[in-house]
Amino acid sequence: MERKTNSAGKVIILFFAFMVAVSLFSGHADAASGKKTSGVSSSRTAAAEKAAKQLQKQTGAKATIKIGKKNVTKQTYSLTKGSKATLKVSVSGWSGKKKITYSSSSKKIVLVTAKGVIKTRKTGTAKIKVTVKGGQKSVSAWVKVKVVKKSPAKPEQPDGNTPGTEKPGSGTPETEQTGGGNPGDDTSETEKPDGNTPETEKPGSSTPDDSKPGTDTPDKTVKAEFNFKTKTVKLNSGYEMPINGLGTYSLHGEECINAVKSALASGVRLIDTASAYGNEEEVGQAIRESIEEGIVKRKDVFVITKIYPGSEMASPKNSIQACLDRLDIGYVDMMLLHHPDRNDVKAYKAIEEFVKDGKIRSIGLSNWYVKELTEFLPQVDTTPALVQNEIHPYYQENDVIPFIQDLGIVVQGWYPLGGRGHTAELLGDPVISAIAKDHGVSSAQVILRWNLQKGVVVIPGSSNPDHIKENTELYHFSLTEDEMDRINALDRGEKHDWY
Ligand SMILES: NC(=O)c1ccc[n+]([C@@H]2O[C@H](COP(=O)([O-])OP(=O)(O)OC[C@H]3O[C@@H](n4cnc5c(N)ncnc54)[C@H](OP(=O)(O)O)[C@@H]3O)[C@@H](O)[C@H]2O)c1
Repeated sequence: MERKTNSAGKVIILFFAFMVAVSLFSGHADAASGKKTSGVSSSRTAAAEKAAKQLQKQTGAKATIKIGKKNVTKQTYSLTKGSKATLKVSVSGWSGKKKITYSSSSKKIVLVTAKGVIKTRKTGTAKIKVTVKGGQKSVSAWVKVKVVKKSPAKPEQPDGNTPGTEKPGSGTPETEQTGGGNPGDDTSETEKPDGNTPETEKPGSSTPDDSKPGTDTPDKTVKAEFNFKTKTVKLNSGYEMPINGLGTYSLHGEECINAVKSALASGVRLIDTASAYGNEEEVGQAIRESIEEGIVKRKDVFVITKIYPGSEMASPKNSIQACLDRLDIGYVDMMLLHHPDRNDVKAYKAIEEFVKDGKIRSIGLSNWYVKELTEFLPQVDTTPALVQNEIHPYYQENDVIPFIQDLGIVVQGWYPLGGRGHTAELLGDPVISAIAKDHGVSSAQVILRWNLQKGVVVIPGSSNPDHIKENTELYHFSLTEDEMDRINALDRGEKHDWY
């Protein structure tokens, strides 16, 4: 459900529209599990959109939130799993009430002002999961809200401990803006004169090699097809990228070095890191050591890193160069903007300059959805080669994936196994387990294969060499249409992180 919500009133209108839709359709919910059937889900979307359209014409929406008898409107409060609240919405003299139960296992802190402005630590969109219960029946859905005001800025933590940055299960409250940078940051960049060109004796200098785009650069507006023989996809930048890799979020020190080396030794050729993960040095070291040990050549490894909102995007040239320096592998195959930010266009254009210099090969985005892409793409010259978003059987992004692919952009899924803290439930899902048993493979392999068959590149994270190897063995079996459908039916719209 992509909708524009430009004012505080609309935030609540959207919330309210959901409530209206839920009450209209709650009779279709599965009483025992609270899960929806896919048919009901699309009816609900249509009803919500209709209600939202009608209500958007009106003004003066107001909301109050009560927890128990306490009116917590205008106060900061924590929603944890099972938190119950009453939401009252008034629109042009009409008012209605709903009891809501917060059912996500990740904590969220929101502040609802008397005007109905929901504040979180970032401007942009946020999603709050609500479950509405009526008698025996309950329906859950994620409500998308537009965050129009942000809380005061907190200093950025460059060690990757930025609150809310991929800390599954950490319960880090989303209270503060961390990624906005400070006014005036825009001018803080001091460009380094050409001294850091990586064409010294580094493994894989930026000198063009075999994998450089040739004359057969693909049509940039056509969905890129996966080649299951070479296990690669041709990006719109002309470079080949492996379709399965290793994610390195939360891996540090020796554990990170060992995981990356183990992956390279097992044939993994795609490594995902980020400035915010605080492990680019370890990733770089593992790649250099593997090259020295003759396990891989630099040109055969595809390394993705990302720069983070806030001060990094405010001074993009310095931050991009810092990533290159920390990785120290000559060039970076792809750099992503980690999240949308007020300086994202500026940062993207800075990456374009590094591409021209041969220090970076392809550009991509992370956590960009339909609305964000629609607004962003007209402002830049290079179509991103890749968008990396949360995708797993419980959060399938079925509307977003084809939208991105039809732009000729490759989709890569993060948290393919649900993310830490959620893997047990996903890997133990009865549908997935049954399919795994039928093929004699693991649940993880089924989920990763399901992604590949949907045209989604996978970067499962692991520090376990057996899992790392298992996660590469995805090409000796395939899922039938019926099996794909059974997994598709597991979608709950259940995000496992806030962005
Ligand atoms: N762009 C973004 O905003 C963003 C956000 C989040 C993540 N990411 C990227 O996406 C990557 C993947 O996400 P993630 O690592 O957080 O979560 P994930 O891949 O969904 O799950 C990782 C968990 O799965 C376990 N696991 C891996 N393979 C397994 C197997 N074959 N069998 C059983 N368990 C298995 C791992 O444990 P073991 O270590 O024991 O194997 C680990 O606990 C990250 O590493 C990061 O590179 C990007």
